[in-house]
Amino acid sequence: MNIAVYGATGHTGRLAAAGLRARGHDVILSGRDEGRLKALADELGGAAVHRAALDDHAALVALAERADVLIHCAGPFTHTGRPVALAAAEGGCHYVDHALEQHHTAWMFAEMDPLARRAGIAMVTAMSFYGGFGDLLAGAVAAGVPDIGRLTVAYAVNGWRLTTGAKQTAELLFAATDRIVYEDGEFRVADVEPRNAVYPFPPPLGPRTMIAPIPSSDVVTIPRHVRARRVEAQLTADTFTEEHAFTSEHADPATRAGSSFMVAVQAVTPGGPLAGQVSGRDLWRASALTSVEAAVRLAEGHEPGVFGPSEAFAAQPYLRDLEKLGLFTLRLPEGTSS
Ligand SMILES: NC(=O)c1ccc[n+]([C@@H]2O[C@H](COP(=O)([O-])OP(=O)(O)OC[C@H]3O[C@@H](n4cnc5c(N)ncnc54)[C@H](OP(=O)(O)O)[C@@H]3O)[C@@H](O)[C@H]2O)c1
Repeated sequence: MNIAVYGATGHTGRLAAAGLRARGHDVILSGRDEGRLKALADELGGAAVHRAALDDHAALVALAERADVLIHCAGPFTHTGRPVALAAAEGGCHYVDHALEQHHTAWMFAEMDPLARRAGIAMVTAMSFYGGFGDLLAGAVAAGVPDIGRLTVAYAVNGWRLTTGAKQTAELLFAATDRIVYEDGEFRVADVEPRNAVYPFPPPLGPRTMIAPIPSSDVVTIPRHVRARRVEAQLTADTFTEEHAFTSEHADPATRAGSSFMVAVQAVTPGGPLAGQVSGRDLWRASALTSVEAAVRLAEGHEPGVFGPSEAFAAQPYLRDLEKLGLFTLRLPEGTSS
């Protein structure tokens, strides 16, 4: 299998490329800077390199024609999302992305789905930590539950050292006044003023003050497979006030690996709340290897179309497989159906 990584020179791209190599797959390293790509290929002990700038459609299509699957790791997706997704469909390779951006994910469903079906490819958007873990956990906790009033995804993150791409994405998202919200069973675009809420994480975290809502892709993907009246994503308020969060663009990989996280989902049902969590360390590694798992599965074959994480793969077994890779520990309510 040939799996291409676009944005391979970034932190997420490098971890994805290394993760693919560790699983024995051929990798095509791609991005806009040939020198940096070649240096990375040397670090990995040799790998194919394919330079393709975002405005070079022919080079992006040629990349997709060489690959069975393309993992899109370059961001912010507000800028990088469309050209790479369009080229994947034209070149006929499956596609996975790390987008947190709600509007990219909504665009994928609205515009790329017919193109993906015509091309016979599967495209999985938002298969990452933020957005992706919330979606998968919601899929596992709420599978088969018919009547959910409110579903909350709560991200507790410590020691997050933002990369250049993550910092640019966070700045764009927090400045955005056109957030997608899901309330009263409907999507709406609104200028939402964030508030502080309290989320009851289980021990050892306990109740924590949250920024609510955060504009993440799981608000777009979860209502596609969970029957809830309202879906909201939240993030621990102290994540962004930690001293090094926004000043770590040049942090080394070992320092970046020091983050810890708990992602929790609570679904309020007439029979009482249902809750599940994943907790682990190093959200970057978790993000990258989650996309690698998706790419490997797509390369084995998948029905065509655009999918959120839980639509592409049954959520509970997928999370269990990620748990076996050592990305986190998973806790689900007793008797949760898969
Ligand atoms: N949802 C999540 O949990 C999650 C997790 C991980 C990453 N992400 C997203 O993935 C993206 C990358 O994150 P990162 O941490 O890997 O960032 P990073 O280390 O700063 O790397 C950014 C990558 O994007 C490439 N890039 C940026 N602008 C580009 C452009 N105009 N044309 C071509 N390539 C471009 C960079 O190429 P150069 O090396 O040539 O500059 C680099 O390879 C971000 O958007 C981030 O939000 C999301």
